[in-house]
Amino acid sequence: MNIAVVMGGYSDESVISLRSGQLILKNLDKNKYQTFEIHILLDGWNAVVDGKQFPIDRSDFTFTQNGEKIKFDAIINTIHGTPGEDGHLQAYWELLDLPYTGCNFYQSALTFNKRDTLSVLSKFNIPKANSIYLSKGDAISGEEIQAQLGLPFFVKPNQSGSSLGVSKVNDLADFDKALDFAFAEDNDILIESFLKGVEVSVGVLNYKGETKVLGLTEIVSQNDFFDYEAKYLGKSEEITPARLSKETELEVIEMAKKVYEALGMSGFSRSEFIIMDGVPHFIEINTNPGLSPQSIFPQQATYAKLNFSDLLDNEIELALK
Ligand code: DAL
Ligand code: MG
Repeated sequence: MNIAVVMGGYSDESVISLRSGQLILKNLDKNKYQTFEIHILLDGWNAVVDGKQFPIDRSDFTFTQNGEKIKFDAIINTIHGTPGEDGHLQAYWELLDLPYTGCNFYQSALTFNKRDTLSVLSKFNIPKANSIYLSKGDAISGEEIQAQLGLPFFVKPNQSGSSLGVSKVNDLADFDKALDFAFAEDNDILIESFLKGVEVSVGVLNYKGETKVLGLTEIVSQNDFFDYEAKYLGKSEEITPARLSKETELEVIEMAKKVYEALGMSGFSRSEFIIMDGVPHFIEINTNPGLSPQSIFPQQATYAKLNFSDLLDNEIELALK
């Protein structure tokens, strides 16, 4: 079976995705699959075979090597950000009748949009931060934000990942800088009230027909919040299992499953919650969670004593269904 492992993407998260792709390539069972490394990058779409690049034919997502046309039976998609986590590639593969891992184009587009995700979840009574949505050019002062959300507050691009463009505003003097930083990633932003509490990251997937929580990881950031540096440059401690009471742990597990199902997920995902005053509050979901050596999802798989190759078999089976 020919499996394309698709990695890269057009956003600043492409370097993380290239690392995620390597973990997948390393763990796919070579007795079952013929694997292909596919880079979708701003400077081109290519299959990489023995260090050589072969252009992907975008009319049918194949490539030609030594006169032979190579087609794929399924795609493992590990792009973070656009165009692989926001539904664009999913819609394209759907039209080509190519099975791919993860949720479909609509659910991908929905969940990559933080505001719209929160809007859907509000129908399911999931606690969350208070927020204000702004588009480029909207006029609102830091004082008005503070009056509505208090201080500190978070400024985030509406569509992005890995905390790129995210700032915590502790002092209104930093508000303009935070706006510029977020608007550099997206034309729409979300400003959210600060939730004081324990942050937990929860891997969830559909495993052998059931919604399964891999584990709860507590994030203790050395920085002011779990920013890019804390995520990838070792400036945080990640504690699995999170140090929670049994009761709170069960509540987070139930809420993470509810979120997964309410958003119509399939395959790997990772949701973030902040437990404030004993109540888990939903922050966001990642539908192509990072699988780099620093990422939480693979650590949780190890904790759950699940073999990563088996998890990938499960992903492929789901894609082929
Ligand atoms: N967006 C990054 C890759 C993550 O969720 O892990
Ligand atoms: Mg994210």
